[in-house]
Amino acid sequence: MTPSSQEGIPPTVAPILEDKRIVICVGSGGVGKTTTAAALGMGMAARGLKVAVITIDPARRLAGSLGLDELGNDPALVDPARFTGHGVEMEGELWAMMLDAKRTFDALIEHLAPDERTAQEVFGNRIYQSLSSAVAGSQEFTAIAKLYELDADGSFDLLVLDTPPSRNALDFLDAPDRLTGFFQGRAIRMFLRPAGLGGRILGRGTGVVFSLLKRVTGVDLLQDLSVFFRSLGGMVDGFSERAARVKALLDDAGTTFLLVTSPEREPVAEAEYFHAKLAEAGMPFGGLVVNRLREAEGEPAPGERRLGDLLDDELARKVRRSANELAALAERDAANVAGLRAALGDPPTVIVPQLPDDVHDVEGLAAVRRYLFAEG
Ligand SMILES: Nc1ncnc2c1ncn2[C@@H]1O[C@H](COP(=O)(O)OP(=O)(O)OP(=O)(O)O)[C@@H](O)[C@H]1O
Ligand SMILES: [Mg+2]
Repeated sequence: MTPSSQEGIPPTVAPILEDKRIVICVGSGGVGKTTTAAALGMGMAARGLKVAVITIDPARRLAGSLGLDELGNDPALVDPARFTGHGVEMEGELWAMMLDAKRTFDALIEHLAPDERTAQEVFGNRIYQSLSSAVAGSQEFTAIAKLYELDADGSFDLLVLDTPPSRNALDFLDAPDRLTGFFQGRAIRMFLRPAGLGGRILGRGTGVVFSLLKRVTGVDLLQDLSVFFRSLGGMVDGFSERAARVKALLDDAGTTFLLVTSPEREPVAEAEYFHAKLAEAGMPFGGLVVNRLREAEGEPAPGERRLGDLLDDELARKVRRSANELAALAERDAANVAGLRAALGDPPTVIVPQLPDDVHDVEGLAAVRRYLFAEG
């Protein structure tokens, strides 16, 4: 199937992205979310927008070729000179960043803390240090926290968010709720009660254990715990409010989800599941990007020379055999895609074929961009 075979459906991402402020590329692992996000960003920037792409764990070579600075946790302008010679007329600006989950979480604490001293107290706290890697390790939350921050900042026309390879769509959609749940949870509330710590929960026996631990390990866990909960106590409401706003941002009219998939059976099944979850959560679904579609060589046109005329018999037989194999794969891909589109109610679908090489540089991204926007 080719994009032009979709009657009445825009075969490019342009109409899907029109008037959007936020595009979130979701899909199962390894299907091309990061590639699509970067190529989309490039395409929209070429059209004159100021675009920020937030990537998650991009391949090193791709990051390098966009000049992504691992040390920064904010978008940086991709040098327009990188696009010259790749057929990209850059009328706007492409900004890109790699998400640093831990730093994003720290920035959130800094923002919510009533003063610098409290923030520093939290950062220096061993409990926070493990918790923040755990919570920040849920990249889903930090990704949308960053998205929220950039959206509120208002300096970009369009934000393109790549997402981590979550097997479970819920991880992403539930992230704000889970974090709110954590901070509103019973355990935390108990600790935060004035008489809580050292009182009801940590009875005498526990106190003995803590002081023994301190003697043996030199680590004053009780002190850490009380400092942690005391300083975080004042931020609970801020967290809940932030999570609620992040959630609102996800189903805003200016936000759309692009479902990226490859045409294999498993990713297609996951795409279907993902789509159902999006619908269930009331999230705005923009369309489908089928990436790495294999296409068969067409029959030679009348007048075009046939294999047998070009090659000796044995070679012609071998070439024919691989052409047949590719044709079988292409047929299976096309059937999977047709099934998926039917299951999703025939959504706008953009096809990006399997390219001869991995997409790890500006040239590769420019090629993907041409398919996404049906240019050239
Ligand atoms: N159309 C394409 N043709 C050829 N190679 C491609 C194409 N699209 C992506 N790739 C390659 O496939 C690999 C996976 O792509 P990418 O990193 O974008 O996937 P992802 O969905 O972000 O993966 P992950 O879930 O691990 O984050 C990369 O090596 C990329 O260069
Ligand atoms: Mg990726």
